[in-house]
Order: sequence, then structure tokens, then C-alpha cells
Amino acid sequence: MNTVFETALSGKHIVIVGGSSGMGKATAKMATALGAKVTIASRNTAKLQAAAGEIGSGVRIAPVDTTDGAGVSSWARGLGSVDHLVISASSAARGAFTDLPIDDLRAMFEAKFIGPYMTAREVLPVLVKGGSITFFSGVLSRRPSAGATGLGAVNAAVEALAKGLALELAGRARVNCISPGMVATEAYAATPEETREAMYAQVGSSLPAGRVGEAEDIAQAVVMAMTNGFLTGSVLDVDGGHLVRDLRLPQVQRQIGSLPKTDLFRVAVLASSKQIMGLEAASKLGRTRAQAQPALLTFNRSAVLGKLGS
Ligand SMILES: NC(=O)c1ccc[n+]([C@@H]2O[C@H](COP(=O)([O-])OP(=O)(O)OC[C@H]3O[C@@H](n4cnc5c(N)ncnc54)[C@H](OP(=O)(O)O)[C@@H]3O)[C@@H](O)[C@H]2O)c1
Repeated sequence: MNTVFETALSGKHIVIVGGSSGMGKATAKMATALGAKVTIASRNTAKLQAAAGEIGSGVRIAPVDTTDGAGVSSWARGLGSVDHLVISASSAARGAFTDLPIDDLRAMFEAKFIGPYMTAREVLPVLVKGGSITFFSGVLSRRPSAGATGLGAVNAAVEALAKGLALELAGRARVNCISPGMVATEAYAATPEETREAMYAQVGSSLPAGRVGEAEDIAQAVVMAMTNGFLTGSVLDVDGGHLVRDLRLPQVQRQIGSLPKTDLFRVAVLASSKQIMGLEAASKLGRTRAQAQPALLTFNRSAVLGKLGS
């Protein structure tokens, strides 16, 4: 017996920009298993080929750089008709407000906002009536973190784009946005494994879900966004409860209170200026994990900076 998702997606053409990695790749696998014809796109052809090999069953690849306007235009003309467009491609830049180079901020807006905007606009002429567009933002839009203000702002811009476009395209296509919390994907591949696992464990334990996300958790939400005909103009928070999590501030403040102010300052400043997590910063300073604990969580970092300012 077909599931409702198989019935809705079987034979449909789904284009996933960012489909060579992480949540885009997981969505490609899930959609393929549900009988869809999937095209994955991103900049690196070798990565696309490897992902296609992993996904199997004739997934098509179509390399594109979403920040290259002319390239996106000719790429879109070669797609054929598209039932659903998913854009998970992005790059992130972290850094304190006064430290993050403006060029890095601009590059992030190009990759995460302008690129998806241009991609949706160029695909629109070949998007079938009744189709859908799914963008990606992230939890920082509404749960900011010191040292990631620019990333929060670009996420908020993507959410506004999805909502506005849902109105502009009413009756033509549905438009939604997925807002993930922390999800274990290749996006963290550059972080040393030990640091990464500690970060996942630490963030996961702060969430109602008790863990960080897997790419498949998000793929399920994308499938829902593509198939639910009553869903448009929505931001789906798939974040393990990040937006409602308990900050446990009294506990954090106790931890912070037990550290010498100089250590807190060095860990917090290094974490912000080098755009790395507190644990990595602490290990660079030769501190133990326990000593880094207060700066490890994003919300801890805000509290650390708050204490320094007091
Ligand atoms: N992972 C998380 O914890 C998390 C949390 C909140 C929000 N998000 C958001 O969720 C989305 C998916 O994240 P993810 O973790 O799955 O990312 P990921 O594993 O890093 O994958 C990003 C994909 O985008 C492609 N890409 C990057 N820049 C591109 C460009 N200019 N043109 C075309 N393709 C481009 C990459 O391939 P190439 O390098 O080959 O181009 C890759 O396929 C992103 O929007 C991210 O910001 C992630």
C-alpha cells in the first residue's frame, strides 16, 4: 500500500540545491525512496557525483553556484519542468559584531539569501502550478547567539522571503521555510571530531529532545512541506525544542561564578573572535573541558559576556 507521501511524490521532479550534502542529501535520498525523480545541485561536481552514487537509482546532477546570476539562469533553463524546489545551499560566517569582516558577512548573505532568492526566481518559470518552494533558515533568527548575529539576521531574511513569496505566489505555488536547530551534518566537518562530539552532546543535553538533529529528521519535514497542500507561508521549527528550551540560568551562573574572571574573559573572547565554540577555544588555551563548560553552550557565552560587562 502506498503511503500518502508516496502518492504525492511518485514521479514528481524535485530539484534540491545543496543536495550533495547534509540535509539536502538526506532529502534527496528520502524523496527518491518515495518514487520521486530527483535532481541534486551544488557547486562541486565531484561531490555531486559521490552523493548521486550514494543516493542511487538514477538521481540526476546539475552543478550550479547560486551566487552566479548568469550561471543560475542558464542552469534553470536546463532543468525541464520542476514540481518542487528545495534550497538548502548556504555558507555561514560567525564572529563578534565588531570582528566579523564585512566581506565575510556579504559572502554569507550572497550564499544564503541572494543566491536562494535568485535561484527561486529563475526556477519559477519552470515550476509547475501547484508546486512548492522550500527555503532553509535556522534557529538563530529567533534565538540569537552572541557571536552569530549576522547569521541570525540572514536566517530572519530568508524567513521573511518565504512568507512574502507565499503571498506573491498564492494560487501558483506554496512557499515554506525549514528552520533547523543544530543538526549533525558535514557543515561541522572542519571541527575536530572530539570537539564536535562534545558540542553535540552538550547542545543535545540542553534540548527537550535530548539530542541534536540528524539530517533525516529534517528530510522528513521537507517531505511534509512539499506534500501538505495546506502548508504555505510557514516556518517549520525542526529544532529538538531549541526555541523553548530551559536556559537553566541559575545553574549556568553558578558555574560561571566558580571561574576566575581572567579565564572567562579569555575563553569568551577567543570563542567569539576565532568563530569557534567555547570548548575549542578553551583547549587552545590549555584549559580542561570542565573549565570550558560555562563558555561551551551558546547561551552560556551570552551569560559569560554578561558577567564580564557587570
Ligand atoms: N547543520 C546545522 O546545524 C544547521 C543549523 C541551522 C540551520 N542550518 C541550515 O540548514 C541548511 C542545510 O545545512 P546543512 O548542514 O545540510 O549544510 P551542508 O551539509 O554544509 O551542505 C551545504 C550544501 O550547500 C552547497 N552549497 C554551498 N554553497 C553553495 C552555492 N553557493 N551554490 C550552490 N550550492 C552551494 C554545498 O555543496 P558545494 O560545497 O559543493 O557547493 C552543500 O551541498 C543550510 O541553509 C544551513 O545554514 C544548518
